[in-house]
Amino acid sequence: MAAAETPPYAGAPGEPGRPLHVAIVMDGNGRWAKRRGLPRTLGHRAGVEALKRTVAAAPDLGVGWLTIFGFSTENWSRPAAEVAELMALPKRYFETDIARLEREGVRVRVIGRREGLSADLVRIIEDAEARTANNTRFHLTIAFNYGGQADIAAAARRFAEEVAAGRRSPDDLDEAAFGGFLATAGAPPPDLIIRPSGEQRLSNFLLWEAAYAELVFQDIMWPDYGEEPLRAALAEFATRDRRYGAIVADDVLAAG
Ligand code: FPP
Repeated sequence: MAAAETPPYAGAPGEPGRPLHVAIVMDGNGRWAKRRGLPRTLGHRAGVEALKRTVAAAPDLGVGWLTIFGFSTENWSRPAAEVAELMALPKRYFETDIARLEREGVRVRVIGRREGLSADLVRIIEDAEARTANNTRFHLTIAFNYGGQADIAAAARRFAEEVAAGRRSPDDLDEAAFGGFLATAGAPPPDLIIRPSGEQRLSNFLLWEAAYAELVFQDIMWPDYGEEPLRAALAEFATRDRRYGAIVADDVLAAG
């Protein structure tokens, strides 16, 4: 059983008490807007401003990787006007911010299915990724048209194709090898997953990658997010005792 208890990315987490990789389910835009008598679309636009504040604050707080959930494969079921607004958000964000992200050493990646996105949006995404491809100071990953289960299924399909083509054997597949087929291949796993808005679930976000993530739920709505709530989440993370399925040294002695 020892192998199963070994964290798959041993050594990858940030300094003790500080997450290297933070992931956020940016929830609560609609409720934020409703409470102000505003259309939901304005909640999403305010959400982009919260994203800017959070990205600006994260590197100085020791975070090296930030992955955010921008649009889930399930969000297509929302009214067409809201889907159209959500589809416009990356363009809105990159138009104002890509030059600064590029200058400040931020590498931008967008994970999720490109099928279903407009050619214009795909071009904007590819341009943002290409412009920042050599940056290494901070890694911003936007999950867009992303679903954790769909990504796991796609990874399984790609591995099966490799086997069918004779390039791999079923025996090659272990946790690390499988991770290499996911959209997040090459990224450290999230140490901390934050969900604001009071909801307490993952909603199909980073299901494989979340295996040993600490979860922090905050009552604030996403459009109000920024440096202070992020600091609070990091402080909560610092109190957590991460054991990766093992037991603490004192208990090893007690167990005889
Ligand atoms: C969930 O809130 C939020 C979303 C579906 C969209 C999140 C997107 C952003 C905050 C901006 C993203 C920016 C980029 C660059 C992609 P909700 O609408 O479900 O809120 P509710 O639960 O209060 O209704």
